[in-house]
Amino acid sequence: MIRLAKDGDIESMVTIERAADAIFHDIGMSAVADGDHMPADDLRNYQRAGRAWVDTDDLGHVLAYLLLDVFDGVPHIEQVSVHPSCAGQGKGRMLIEAAANWAKQEGFSSLTLTTFTEVPWNAPYYARFGFEVIPVSQLSSGLKQIREHEAAMGLDAWPRSAMRRTLIG
Ligand SMILES: CC(C)(COP(=O)(O)OP(=O)(O)OC[C@H]1O[C@@H](n2cnc3c(N)ncnc32)[C@H](O)[C@@H]1OP(=O)(O)O)[C@@H](O)C(=O)NCCC(=O)NCCS
Repeated sequence: MIRLAKDGDIESMVTIERAADAIFHDIGMSAVADGDHMPADDLRNYQRAGRAWVDTDDLGHVLAYLLLDVFDGVPHIEQVSVHPSCAGQGKGRMLIEAAANWAKQEGFSSLTLTTFTEVPWNAPYYARFGFEVIPVSQLSSGLKQIREHEAAMGLDAWPRSAMRRTLIG
């Protein structure tokens, strides 16, 4: 079940991000797998702002989550993480659809994210449900700042890009 995150979910979210990112070891991106993860206080800020969603099992255990920012008046997916024990069950996709539905209800017309261009479960995955790469020349100032911050963190050791999905209807 997808619902807004609660304060009591933060610990599970920390665990899920670490477990989910371990998949980057498989493709030689250990620096990403072992890199800095989001501190609990930052996760709590998203939760308190009402921009963190979780997916739970029938017993209420948190299995996956999504964090949303709003930059330059455009909602921006900061993070999607699915625990590897339930990867490939459509949980990532359903969380992204929940964020898209929220954005539409709030009157936004697009949704953005930044991601690794060549990682199979990143840009090619998002492209399958409507995200398109934003040319560097068309980046908003907010997205430019995000990309600069990512480069400073060393993430540009692998190709990255910003993507946008237009929200219709
Ligand atoms: C990306 C992620 C959120 C997807 O969650 P998920 O619930 O497993 O995704 P879904 O079940 O909706 O879809 C799985 C997709 O990933 C692809 N995928 C997953 N693992 C893969 C792998 N090792 N190699 C290739 N493709 C892979 C599958 O092809 C599938 O795509 P399709 O259904 O369109 O064919 C999850 O893999 C994850 O948490 N990854 C680590 C963190 C991350 O990269 N987050 C996104 C950037 S912030």
